[in-house]
Amino acid sequence: MFQLTMRLSAVCLLYWLQLSLLMSALRGLDFKYHGEEEMVNYLRLLNKKYPNMTKLYSIGKSVQGRELWVLAIGKHVASPVPLIPNVRYIGNIHGNEVVGRELLLHLAEHYLTMYSTNSTIQTFLDSTNIHLLPCMNPDGFHISKPNYCDGIQGRNNSNNFDLNRNFPDSNNPRPPPIQPETAAVIRWVHSTHFVLSANLHGGAMVVNYPLDVFPGDIYSTRSSPSPDDDVFVHLSLVFSRSHANMYKGNHCDDHFVNGITNGAEWYPVLGGMQDFVYKVASGYEVLIEISCCKYPRPSELPKLWIYNKDALINFMMTVHIGVKGIIYGESVQNSSGVPLKGATVSIKGRDIPFYTTSRGEYYKLLLPGNYVLMVSHPLYESYSTFVKVQSYGVTRKDILLSLKSNRSEHTSSTPRRQGAANSTISTVNTFDTANSSSPASPLFHVLTFTLVVVLLF
Ligand SMILES: *[C@@H]1O[C@H](CO)[C@@H](O)[C@H](O)[C@H]1NC(C)=O
Ligand SMILES: *[C@@H]1O[C@H](CO)[C@@H](O)[C@H](O)[C@H]1NC(C)=O
Ligand SMILES: *[C@@H]1O[C@H](CO)[C@@H](O)[C@H](O)[C@H]1NC(C)=O
Ligand SMILES: *[C@@H]1O[C@H](CO)[C@@H](O)[C@H](O)[C@H]1NC(C)=O
Ligand SMILES: *[C@@H]1O[C@H](CO)[C@@H](O)[C@H](O)[C@H]1NC(C)=O
Ligand SMILES: *[C@@H]1O[C@H](CO)[C@@H](O)[C@H](O)[C@H]1NC(C)=O
Ligand SMILES: *[C@@H]1O[C@H](CO)[C@@H](O)[C@H](O)[C@H]1NC(C)=O
Ligand SMILES: [Zn+2]
Repeated sequence: MFQLTMRLSAVCLLYWLQLSLLMSALRGLDFKYHGEEEMVNYLRLLNKKYPNMTKLYSIGKSVQGRELWVLAIGKHVASPVPLIPNVRYIGNIHGNEVVGRELLLHLAEHYLTMYSTNSTIQTFLDSTNIHLLPCMNPDGFHISKPNYCDGIQGRNNSNNFDLNRNFPDSNNPRPPPIQPETAAVIRWVHSTHFVLSANLHGGAMVVNYPLDVFPGDIYSTRSSPSPDDDVFVHLSLVFSRSHANMYKGNHCDDHFVNGITNGAEWYPVLGGMQDFVYKVASGYEVLIEISCCKYPRPSELPKLWIYNKDALINFMMTVHIGVKGIIYGESVQNSSGVPLKGATVSIKGRDIPFYTTSRGEYYKLLLPGNYVLMVSHPLYESYSTFVKVQSYGVTRKDILLSLKSNRSEHTSSTPRRQGAANSTISTVNTFDTANSSSPASPLFHVLTFTLVVVLLF
């Protein structure tokens, strides 16, 4: 009798367990902190459930040997397509600032579960690859104290270096030794070109944009605008205004107008990730502080997700502005030219060179207006052309550079525009946020198509 009761209750327990497992699967990811193994298991689960929308990979190991896992999400992550931009979020670079880590797991779930029902999400993931590194500092996280809003335990990596002071910086008179976690990110941004990115922090509520130091006055607190200041202000405002309350600017005993700030104007940072990415890796990166408390109670997480969800999504959608295209070089083998790696692309009046990828791609995020795009490469004639950036969508401009001829060296003293390239192809693509694009055209709807033939100089 006793045995039977035991057996019955065991069976009941089993059913109850199965039921609650099923319920939690339906409910989705729990709002709690996921330890290292739980986090990796969750990323593996998403990868298994959505094999053709995700790619799971490690970019390296921490000092103590923990893998730095990245989940990439998008229709084209498995086989990259030219001119589909990569974007990136990094969380938990300071090991005790943990909200970003959890929100990135929720963001991954949101993208993947909404793909089939929400056309905005679908259009975004059909036209963008988003890479999420929820935790850049797993060793620091491992020793961080739950429910501690302030404090520094776990902030640094296990060699006690601050990873957001550890990137190469030409302003730094005494550069620290590059840590394994930093080296992994440096390799990553050099092997994958990221157009737009952000790293997530805690302890304040503000979007902090480049530059983080004033060149030549590196320890002083003063505004240090980058050549693309207007673009960075725009990107930052997209986040702060899409957030539930960040734009109000009065949080955590700070005041930031519209919830955004120039980095050096807040306080100078030498060796930060955002300036490195902008100056060296041809990308636009900001630092986002998303909670006053660095390690809040788990019960705070649902609210933090709701506050940040639209901001995290809308920020990345701004990758589809400005101008992009492929730079080709004249070639004897191929009359239409070959994609040129390492060509310099810049906008007149903005003294920051960006470099083309191995597929010849470039991306310049710009606000609507008229610009002069300048392209150069040691082996080819330099070329510049006008670009009109629309208020909606991306302008596409491909350029073919002519091989350098020795003749031109004698006549290069004229500062006039040199029509060295034969032709540029210019089209305007729209990022259609109101509708999903047809599956056959993963890019955008082509509004206009113009072919501009520039006379040989
Ligand atoms: C994923 O691949 C499967 C099998 O190849 C296919 O049926 C499905 O439509 C694909 N899903 C997406 C979102 O591309
Ligand atoms: C689809 O997702 C976008 C972006 O997050 C959101 O603004 C919109 O409200 C969603 N649409 C529906 C019908 O849920
Ligand atoms: C963290 O690392 C920085 C150097 O990167 C150092 O200045 C700071 O003192 C370290 N923090 C602690 C708590 O030791
Ligand atoms: C020539 O270059 C174009 C564009 O890069 C490419 O699509 C084409 O396959 C190339 N043709 C040959 C014969 O290599
Ligand atoms: C052009 O100059 C390069 C070196 O400056 C030389 O090697 C090459 O032979 C020259 N070509 C012609 C056609 O003069
Ligand atoms: C430039 O255009 C002319 C005439 O349209 C053509 O003969 C020439 O081969 C082109 N040069 C290149 C580098 O494409
Ligand atoms: C937009 O959506 C509507 C209604 O779902 C559909 O009729 C229309 O064809 C779509 N347009 C495009 C460009 O996808
Ligand atoms: Zn931080």
